[in-house]
Amino acid sequence: PQETEENLRSPICCIMGHVDTGKTKLLDCIRGTNVQEGEAGGITQRIGATYFPADNIRERTKELKADAKLKVPGLLVVDTPGHESFTNLRSRGSGLCDIAILVVDIMHGLEPQTIESLNLLKMRNTEFIVALNKVDRLYGWKVCRNSPIQKAMKQQSKDVKNEFSMRLTQLYYNNREMGETFSIVPTSAISGEGIPDLLLLLVHWTQNNVLEVKVVEGHGTTIDVVLVNGVLHEGDQIVVCGMQGPIVTTIRALLTQHPMKELRVKGTYLHHKQIKAAQGIKIAAQGLEHAIAGTGLYVVGADDELEDIKEASMEDMKSVLSRIDKSGEGVYVQASTLGPLEALLEFLKSPAVNIAVSGIGIGPVHKKDVMKASVMLEKKKEYATILAFDVKVNPEARELADDMGVKIFITDVIYHLFDQFKAHIDNLKE
Ligand code: GTP
Ligand code: NA
Ligand code: MG
Repeated sequence: PQETEENLRSPICCIMGHVDTGKTKLLDCIRGTNVQEGEAGGITQRIGATYFPADNIRERTKELKADAKLKVPGLLVVDTPGHESFTNLRSRGSGLCDIAILVVDIMHGLEPQTIESLNLLKMRNTEFIVALNKVDRLYGWKVCRNSPIQKAMKQQSKDVKNEFSMRLTQLYYNNREMGETFSIVPTSAISGEGIPDLLLLLVHWTQNNVLEVKVVEGHGTTIDVVLVNGVLHEGDQIVVCGMQGPIVTTIRALLTQHPMKELRVKGTYLHHKQIKAAQGIKIAAQGLEHAIAGTGLYVVGADDELEDIKEASMEDMKSVLSRIDKSGEGVYVQASTLGPLEALLEFLKSPAVNIAVSGIGIGPVHKKDVMKASVMLEKKKEYATILAFDVKVNPEARELADDMGVKIFITDVIYHLFDQFKAHIDNLKE
């Protein structure tokens, strides 16, 4: 049957690459937003999804006059972190996307997480486009705001063109074993050169994951979901992974953010009776406050066995639980969602850090978490510690911790936790 615009789903595009290559900035440039400057330490530490409607892409590519026939309703773009601890989020991102943009800093060439991203993409056979970003940093670059790249290149001096060719050639030499062909688009996330080309290449390519738990005023607890396949309806029975086991509930409301805004940005929402993939969606339902962000969401179909689905929903927690030290001695680790928790556990396990973990929690630090961490006061005093990342500490929990002598270290940048913990240990030794 002839495919019409209505029955094609939007492709999912994942942005990957080494830290600070400009992944978030590129998205900001396309959206006309400023998410990157609002990030703690300028670092992306979670997955973020944005929906680009077809109209917007059409507008941004019109100068290329290519027949940018958009057969899809739009494009769902997923941002990922570049810091090394976040392999899990890059892996998740590359696992759910149809196509990827691999961002490379033209001044730095191939870097460790560029290679890691390449390997993830190759492993899954995912096609990708290389955005050779920060061309505006070539010495003497003449800014041609938001211009197609060939037009911008024509404006450049011989020296700029030479430096560009030299850096491009280096990239080829350093990536000899790749052997495959892929598109490279020079871009600048600051002045916008090459962005039309990048979008056009994406257009020329034409099939569930819980992102985070948040309370939206008026809707109770909601979860952010990237719908990769199929359709969701109001009233569908769903199963998600929870701290105390699988949560079975019913969708009360299906909400989406206005287009061109990232799901994590606050705002008003559009209501839907049903939603088709691929989109970033907010789901309101009872019992979701204990849902573990970063895990899959299952819809219970008429022919499905509920017990099988409940078991499948808990799979994602297995790897996290396997990180708890068998000796029972270690710090207590708490994070906002599963992804950052996995990243934090990964970081604590690395040889340079090597801190044992005895317990984990997701969401704000409550009294029960302090109680669990306090068990270490008797065993190993320095471990009577909660390392908390990107979460709030409930005032009663703080009070209890102070009374009992449990230390709470809280940060919005994972890497700072180690320094704080190390200083604490050195302090105890004195
Ligand atoms: P992580 O998410 O932490 O891995 O970084 P990222 O890849 O998202 O990079 P980000 O967008 O945070 O940009 C890193 C820095 O590079 C910021 O200071 C940006 O302003 C700068 N930057 C990004 N793109 C460009 C560009 O095209 N040109 C120039 N000159 N600077 C850029
Ligand atoms: Na950054
Ligand atoms: Mg970023």
